[in-house]
Amino acid sequence: MIEIIRLESVGSTQEAMKERLSELDPSKITALIAKEQSSGRGREGRVFRSPLGGLYMTAALHIEGPLQKHIALSLLTGLAIARLAPRIRLKWPNDLLIESKKVGGILIETRAPWWLIGIGINVTTPLEKLEGLDQPVTTLGAFPHLDRKILESLEKMLPQFLNEGFAPFQQEYLQKSAFSPGDEIIVRERGRCTFEGITTLGELSISIDGKREDLHFGEISFRN
Ligand code: BTN
Repeated sequence: MIEIIRLESVGSTQEAMKERLSELDPSKITALIAKEQSSGRGREGRVFRSPLGGLYMTAALHIEGPLQKHIALSLLTGLAIARLAPRIRLKWPNDLLIESKKVGGILIETRAPWWLIGIGINVTTPLEKLEGLDQPVTTLGAFPHLDRKILESLEKMLPQFLNEGFAPFQQEYLQKSAFSPGDEIIVRERGRCTFEGITTLGELSISIDGKREDLHFGEISFRN
């Protein structure tokens, strides 16, 4: 079951959700959705610009026990979104791209046993409000009920994910990935390397000088 709380404006839906965790019903997915955020946050403490026109949502899931890999929940969420909007490509681990430009991002945090899935998407955001960012950005375009559709898409995938992990979704993720096996990429933590794929745990598989490595943390800083 999904419960949605809608707010006009908030600092960050992530922080607002953290303040409400004790009031949530663990049997439901609760989502906090705001029309704008004054202190939207991205991964690694970056600012996530959040003017009117975008989708800003945090979904709280109550998950008992350990998750296979933290990062896999980010990938699963990306896939839930890409299933709805076929133009979206997934840049491991948390970026949503259209034609190599960032259209949104995902931020996963935990306050065990709660998992907070933050989703920000430039939907009809005026592009001038996003000027000056360190990477090219774009918008998805009008998409009625996108927030609810994402939650329903995720809700549908969750039982299998919680039982079997990321493995059943690995191939579909790769099909929607911004990179294909053999692509040259630059990973901030490793430098120039070859994209080999995504593992069944949701890790980034790369090779450097023929040596294979699986990363569960990192950032791809270059795309072809
Ligand atoms: C990223 O691109 O690094 C992740 C962006 C995540 C942004 C969303 S918007 C809703 C939620 N509230 C926040 O402050 N951040 C996430």
